[in-house]
Amino acid sequence: MPTVLVTGAAGQVGREVMALDWPGWRLVGVDRDQLDITDANAVAAFTQRERPDLILNCAAHTAVDRAESEAELSDAINRAGPAHLAATGVPMVHISTDYVFDGRPGRPWREGDATGPLGVYGRTKLAGEQAVAATAGRWAVLRTAWVFGRHGANFVKTMLRLAAERDELRVVGDQQGGPTPADAIAAACQTIGLALLDRANVNGIYHFAGAPPTTWAGFAQAILAASAAHGRRVVPVRAIATADYPTPAKRPANSVLDCTLIHTTFGIAQPDWRAALVRMMPELVS
Ligand SMILES: NC(=O)c1ccc[n+]([C@@H]2O[C@H](COP(=O)([O-])OP(=O)(O)OC[C@H]3O[C@@H](n4cnc5c(N)ncnc54)[C@H](OP(=O)(O)O)[C@@H]3O)[C@@H](O)[C@H]2O)c1
Repeated sequence: MPTVLVTGAAGQVGREVMALDWPGWRLVGVDRDQLDITDANAVAAFTQRERPDLILNCAAHTAVDRAESEAELSDAINRAGPAHLAATGVPMVHISTDYVFDGRPGRPWREGDATGPLGVYGRTKLAGEQAVAATAGRWAVLRTAWVFGRHGANFVKTMLRLAAERDELRVVGDQQGGPTPADAIAAACQTIGLALLDRANVNGIYHFAGAPPTTWAGFAQAILAASAAHGRRVVPVRAIATADYPTPAKRPANSVLDCTLIHTTFGIAQPDWRAALVRMMPELVS
């Protein structure tokens, strides 16, 4: 029976990959405690023992602001980790981010557009992509954005908590992006991973994000509206400027990803994040 190795299996996306059906496959999920991807020897020993046919790398250092003061750790997890996994030669799907772009306003970002990360997180994630792409084997990089889901910390859970505590939410309204359900990312990774094994010449970078584009303030409004159906308090959301919400890491103003290529190559459509929000809300408010 073929084996799929999922790294970062306890994260937002990792848990959704573990929850998918994998008919005919042996599913091995590991998080930092079982396999620290920054340890090259551990990665080599683990893969020699388990002999995976496919790796889905969901492990990452995702704390965008903390990365500014943890550059070494961020580099170890976001660049060296994927490089060690790629060095095994096992076909691999690696997840990356919209934050590899500088966020210049204009059209949605395509895969071939020039990158220009604004901070440590984006820089180390870009270096991770490059390490994966440098391998001779089969690989795909899935760049996604604004991840939310049932598991782990995310923007949706933060907004629900703050709405219960405050009379008004002040949320950034001048950054554009596509909120993306974690379970849809998991399903896309599975489809691409299986295609990597079945089809030649699908190596590459693919963009995948929810539609339609919105701002963090727009996302917050939709979250509160969806939670009202479950008796949650709705408070006004005031859109503020990025300049009025200083953070250690600079964030791109335009994070919208053009997701045409993943559709034409694999038939994977952009998920509607508003429908996903409504679907997940019973679990999120409970
Ligand atoms: N979250 C977003 O909004 C967002 C946006 C764009 C792209 N992405 C990308 O999407 C992917 C999945 O993100 P996510 O939101 O699911 O992240 P997450 O919830 O932070 O999960 C990442 C997982 O990786 C684990 N990990 C960290 N260091 C590790 C190491 N050295 N070895 C093994 N595992 C390690 C973490 O464990 P600990 O909890 O112990 O650290 C955690 O379980 C990442 O590649 C991320 O860059 C995320």
